[in-house]
Amino acid sequence: MKTNDRTDVRRIIQDLRAAYVPNDAYRKLDEYFRMLLEQRRADMADGSASKLRGIVLIGRSGSGKTTAIQHLIRSNRELLRTDTSQEICELISLQVPSPATMKFVGTAVLQAAGYPLSRDKSASTIWDMVRQQLMFRQTLFLHLDEAQDLTRFQTENERRSVVNTLKSLMENSRWPVGLILSGMPEFKTLINQDPQLARRLYPVEIDRLNEFRNVGAVINLVQRYTGRAGIGINEDLSGENFAQRLIHAADYEFGLMAELVVQAITMALSRDGLDARLSLSHFADVFHMRSAAVDGLNPFIAEDFRRIDPRQVLDHDSMHSADDPRGPR
Ligand SMILES: Nc1ncnc2c1ncn2[C@@H]1O[C@H](COP(=O)(O)OP(=O)(O)OP(=O)(O)O)[C@@H](O)[C@H]1O
Ligand SMILES: [Mg+2]
Repeated sequence: MKTNDRTDVRRIIQDLRAAYVPNDAYRKLDEYFRMLLEQRRADMADGSASKLRGIVLIGRSGSGKTTAIQHLIRSNRELLRTDTSQEICELISLQVPSPATMKFVGTAVLQAAGYPLSRDKSASTIWDMVRQQLMFRQTLFLHLDEAQDLTRFQTENERRSVVNTLKSLMENSRWPVGLILSGMPEFKTLINQDPQLARRLYPVEIDRLNEFRNVGAVINLVQRYTGRAGIGINEDLSGENFAQRLIHAADYEFGLMAELVVQAITMALSRDGLDARLSLSHFADVFHMRSAAVDGLNPFIAEDFRRIDPRQVLDHDSMHSADDPRGPR
């Protein structure tokens, strides 16, 4: 590859990795978010306070929750001040710490709000500081990622205190803060156990892909990505069978599907440069690279691909599986 071409290839790959493909769940998330923001601005302008609401974003691992929130923040830059290095920061985003005790969650929020650690303080002092800091920074939204961890590794009492404290942030009369919670499906149980919380949160769910309904959309997405990369595409990627293999390999998750497409194009570009032509073999090779799966366990190669567990990574026994006569690759 010529040096110029190599620079181009690198630039294209970076561009593909940064590309965000909006799906139905994202459009809903964006719509709700803008609505909540609009309401809040209107309330602040006339000094009134209507009941504050938030959003809960649910999806399995790899569905694209974290990426969706990041894109939401990026694409609403003009409407919302989100630079954490500035005094005013209208949205603060963090991951729920583990174990999600009152103290740990409070300290994590404080840290995300740019406040120095205060390990030796009591939980109630920490939460007073959180409320103060959120008001001082004029924070309108608090996003907690991995919200399912609020239910893990802690006592029932502690869990209830954390949930009530978070809920109370939305009800704070001096400075209410809207919650955006993203987490795995088991988090729904926690929300449904608390009707008060459920009523305050608009639900958005990233649905799993369907191997019949989403075939057209998946083929279209692959074509749009190759178009964006400016490379060719083989006929073996235009059929329903390929789409179903890709959906299965991604374990029916939208994010993982997009990630596989980007990786397959990256592989094609790295091997053949700007003349690359994306084909089924690139997908097979990417799957092999990720899982070390033999051909018989590779959804892009195996005849009966639906019986394969696509999440299985580097299972040593399967590499020497007796039912695969070719043995390890
Ligand atoms: N809409 C999208 N367009 C393009 N790529 C996406 C999209 N959504 C997700 N992805 C890609 O899918 C992968 C997984 O997404 P992400 O990490 O956001 O999933 P998640 O739901 O947060 O998973 P986890 O629960 O494991 O944290 C990432 O590589 C991301 O870049
Ligand atoms: Mg995530």
